[in-house]
Amino acid sequence: MTDTRSLAACTDAVILVGGKGTRLRPLTNTIPKPMLPVAGYPFLQHLLARIREAGMTHVVLGTSFKAEFFEEFFGDGHDLGLEIEYVVEDQPLGTGGGIRNVLDHLRHERAMVFNGDVLGGTDLEAVLRTHVDNDAEVTLHLLQVADPRAFGCVPTDADGRVTDFLEKTEDPPTDQINAGCYVFQRSVIAEIPADKVVSVEREVFPALLERDARVYGHVDQAYWRDLGTPADFVRGSSDLVRGIAPSPLIAGRHGEALVDPSAGVAGGVLLLGGTVVGRGAEIGAGARVDTSVILEGVVIEPGATVERCVIAAGARIGARAQLTDAVVGEGAVIGARCELIGGARVWPGVQIPDGGLRFSPDI
Ligand code: GDD
Ligand code: MG
Repeated sequence: MTDTRSLAACTDAVILVGGKGTRLRPLTNTIPKPMLPVAGYPFLQHLLARIREAGMTHVVLGTSFKAEFFEEFFGDGHDLGLEIEYVVEDQPLGTGGGIRNVLDHLRHERAMVFNGDVLGGTDLEAVLRTHVDNDAEVTLHLLQVADPRAFGCVPTDADGRVTDFLEKTEDPPTDQINAGCYVFQRSVIAEIPADKVVSVEREVFPALLERDARVYGHVDQAYWRDLGTPADFVRGSSDLVRGIAPSPLIAGRHGEALVDPSAGVAGGVLLLGGTVVGRGAEIGAGARVDTSVILEGVVIEPGATVERCVIAAGARIGARAQLTDAVVGEGAVIGARCELIGGARVWPGVQIPDGGLRFSPDI
């Protein structure tokens, strides 16, 4: 039997990063979702580090929306020990079209395809091993979740063979879902029609099952989270900081908070729950920041409380403001004593005056 190292070494990694990230607006107005900082690094850098750690070295990014961001940041990948290529879709081709579009850049008979917004701790070599052992054409990484409705529901039979694929269905027959990581034989990618919009979930997988292709599942219990919504985004970042989610980039630096050395944190500040404080941010005396992502240059004034929030670059949170489950866009100003709760999204540059917005009587 070949050893698993050599499996990864002769597998291309393909990452789909062309989505618009609509559920994370306004954060994704200016930065594509996979480039948003999570635990101090663009999310994609954590995924690339895991790909490298597993032994894959050739990576192709399928980009579309804000394509230029990726290459500007990662270049040819040399610094990460990778060879990264970029393939741009002028018009987004969907998840299946995006996979088909990188075909000419593949070097091996097998490719591991990743959704670019999934934080996971799965043993990638084990997924490849399942694929090879089953002599599969496609293998899907699967896991069980409490509420499968927001995902692709993927039932399997007793041998682990996939029997159906139901994307985002209201009445899922099982709690087993598509984790957004697949192994494809190159020949299957070549079957996807070129230069047209194709959904891997709604078209490619159902068509493969229809023709009785060998499609298998690899189920595990490793850490997993799709970072597509603000709630999952803050949770994923916090889990990385606390060491609940693995990333080679922050090994050995886990704790209640990850604070950039250039940030200013006054006395009596409480930083909890895996909070990240970015470059040049200032946190005033007595503020409490819990399970939040505080980006570059943010100012949080004394006595403010910020819980499960993302505060984008250059925003200002006034004294004694209370923010829970909110997203504050770049450069926005939240006045003193304001109260934002449950899913509030403040657009970039918006200024709310002192005491200008509350959900409960004044404090
Ligand atoms: N290149 C390219 N082109 N990439 C795209 C396109 C496109 O047109 N559209 C979406 N993507 C990328 C996104 O950037 C993201 O990384 C990935 O494809 C999946 O898109 P999402 O928009 O995040 O999909 P989802 O989270 O609703 O559902 C998908 O992921 C779930 C697991 O997280 C599906 O694959 C579900 O079946 C799955 O359960
Ligand atoms: Mg997603």
